Order: sequence, then C-alpha cells, then structure tokens
Amino acid sequence: MAERKTILIFDSGLGGLTVYRELVAARPDANFLYVADDAAFPYGRLAEPALIARVAGLMDELIAAHRPDLVVIACNTASTIVLAELRRKFAVPFVGTVPAIKPACAGSVTKRVSVLGTEATVQREYTRALIRDYAQDCEVTLVGSTKLAGYAEAELDGAPVGDAEIGAEIAPCFRADGKRTDTIVLACTHYPLLLHRLRQVAPWPVNFIDPAPAIARRVVDLLGPVTLLGSTGTTTALFTSGQPRHAVLGRFGIHTDEPSLTR
Ligand code: DGL
Repeated sequence: MAERKTILIFDSGLGGLTVYRELVAARPDANFLYVADDAAFPYGRLAEPALIARVAGLMDELIAAHRPDLVVIACNTASTIVLAELRRKFAVPFVGTVPAIKPACAGSVTKRVSVLGTEATVQREYTRALIRDYAQDCEVTLVGSTKLAGYAEAELDGAPVGDAEIGAEIAPCFRADGKRTDTIVLACTHYPLLLHRLRQVAPWPVNFIDPAPAIARRVVDLLGPVTLLGSTGTTTALFTSGQPRHAVLGRFGIHTDEPSLTR
C-alpha cells in the first residue's frame, strides 16, 4: 500500500502559508507540519551566523521528532543562507525558496525587473549570484524592505496598514528610465499575502512573481504525484512563540490543537 508522505514547511512566520496553499493543492494526500519560528520574527534582522545556528538547531529537533519525507524552507531570508548547511547536516531532501530572478528576466519585455525582498535577502551573495547568472540583458533593481513582512502579518491579523505605508515600501521598485519596470519578483514569502494591496498601490501594472507554484512543482517532482487518491492528509501547525494564530490558520483551512513547540 502507498505510504502517506509528511512535508514540513518552515518559515519565520505566516509567509510560508502562501507556499502551503499551493503544496496542499498539489499533494492533498500528504500530511503537513507547518512551523512558524515566530519567536525570532523577523528573520531579516538576524545576523547570518545567528540565523544559520537557529534554523539548523530547530531542524535538528523537528526532523528527529516528526521524520518528514521532505522539508520546504518557505523563507527566502533563511534559504539564501542556510540551505547549504541544512543539506550538509541532514539526509532529508530540502526545497528552498530563492528569488525567482531567472523566470522574471526571461519573461520581462521591457527588461526592467525589480527584486523585492527583506534587506537581508537582497544583500545576500546568493541573490547577487542569481543576477549575475540569469539576468542576461535585464537591468535588475534590488529593493530591500524592513517593514513589508510585518505589514503582511498585520493584514492577516485584520489590522491592515494604509496604502501610503505600502506604497512607500514598493516605490523604489518602479523605475522609468525610458523603459518602465514590468516585473517584480516577490522575494519574500510574506509578500504574496499583500498581493491585492500591492496591485492597488502600484503606480502602473506590473507582473508580480510569486514563487509558490514553482515550489509546489519542485516538491511534486521530488515526491511524485498524489498516491492516495481521494484521501486527505492532516495539517498541524507549530509556533515557536507558543501562541499559534488560530484565526489566521483557520482561513488557510488549518485547524490544529497541537501543543506548540517553544524555544
Ligand atoms: N518570509 C520570509 C522570507 O521569505 C521573511 C520574513 C522575515 O524577515 O522573517 O524572506
């Protein structure tokens, strides 16, 4: 009989839910464990060695306790610095979330692309190497935001910030030097939570690239397609703060009474 797969999804907060919703649609028969390291949110503020140590330490505990078949690091800020260490340390396959620069540049007509991420993500060598390798004839503008991930969490909690605040964060993405930016890479998994707001405040229409569908395709490539037809798995959520956001989880179809992991 086919065995039920367990997929662990990890983020600093609620942003990984944008990846979860694609994954659960692609593999509804899998069991999911959603882990939000919200005690350390936002990751954008952590120094690289501290972030590597924190994520590797948590993974040690989580992998031993839950024996996932695959782990998705649904966080650009973590993936761009900790993936190599995680792959070195653990045998389980990891799928990371890194800025979708290659498809963005391939699809841009004006050849003006912006990458909107946390300040840490846009400064990482990993991101700069993606630009060197895949930007080709595109001019890429890196825009780091210290606030948008928090705004996305506030939006989910029912306390949205105003258009002016969001507009100020994304304004540097919109360049018009004879040609206008036509593509913005959402290089933080929190930002698709604000997609409707980003579209409203954008000074002109652009293509916002959410990497979640590509991540779901990669997971299906590695784990294979649905094996338990018609059978739905379970989803459990752990919040390192010890305070799971039940109302938000419910909106993503996650109802869990599981005690939280505290750290
Ligand atoms: N969701 C995380 C990402 O994709 C970032 C938010 C944070 O700074 O913790 O980068």
